[in-house]
Amino acid sequence: MAEAQARQRGGHTEDVSAERLAESGLRFEVDGEIATITLDRPDKRNAQTFATWSALAGIGDSLPEQVRVVVVKGEGPSFSAGIDLRMFTPEGVPGQGSFSSVARSGDTDFEHNIRKAQAGFLWLRRPEIVSIAAVHGHAIGAGFQLALSCDLRIVADDVTFCMKEPALGLVPDLTGTKPLVELVGLAKAVDICLTARMVHAEEALRIGLAEQVVARDDLDRAVRDKAAELLSTNRDAAAATKRLLQGARARTLEEQSVAEGLEQAVRIKALFGG
Ligand code: CAA
Repeated sequence: MAEAQARQRGGHTEDVSAERLAESGLRFEVDGEIATITLDRPDKRNAQTFATWSALAGIGDSLPEQVRVVVVKGEGPSFSAGIDLRMFTPEGVPGQGSFSSVARSGDTDFEHNIRKAQAGFLWLRRPEIVSIAAVHGHAIGAGFQLALSCDLRIVADDVTFCMKEPALGLVPDLTGTKPLVELVGLAKAVDICLTARMVHAEEALRIGLAEQVVARDDLDRAVRDKAAELLSTNRDAAAATKRLLQGARARTLEEQSVAEGLEQAVRIKALFGG
């Protein structure tokens, strides 16, 4: 089911076959309403490349309609050590170039490439799904941002988050800054990013970065339990409620109340309209 499709995306074809995903350092499995994306380069601590982000976007574009919960996890000792550091070398990643080649390609191309990379993260917020990051070990840079791109973070007690980018002369640009500020507030986000310090499990729970901390061996079970809880509610009502919650911050109370009424009218019609 999760196998081998090449789907049309934005006018071009994204290959999401198991073979192509493996080359990009990913596995993808669907079991009923639950999809699992596994970062699968454990020997390199699940370091991410342009191919990883493009494959993530491909998974988002071809996600089977029945899926309601998407779990993102990492194989081996770390969730993800962030960007593949070879991208900072002149040689780069074979077949994918390096930052020096990307920088030479001109501003417009560079911004376009960043937008393409971000597409791999943004779809995880869709109202039709709930995404859960199951995070253990290190979640550094792009790894931290991937965890932030999910709706929920359930973490192991050995977790270490670190926004390393400013220490490397860069900014976090894989969609992580907004969810970080929304979760922990501006002051704490400034503290975490501008010091590039480690955030461990106890602090992650206390500041709202993690919903739940469990023993490393219990992580899969905790995520399965949460997925089951999420699947116990009505699919369409869940999507409508997520749309409301996502829009709440940007609306006034009056506007939000109107939005609630509009969504409820649709629900009532669907349930009792005959
Ligand atoms: N890129 C490429 N390879 C990496 C890697 C990375 N980010 N992180 C680890 N590896 C490789 C190591 O080179 C090593 O490979 P070899 O066995 O071939 O030597 C292997 O993974 C294991 O690494 P360690 O022995 O260091 O593993 P560890 O468990 O002792 O430490 C770690 C884990 C703390 C994550 C450490 O590997 C580390 O600090 N990695 C680098 C983290 C980093 O700086 N990432 C960049 C973040 S910034 C970002 O992501 C930028 C952005 O979005 C723009």
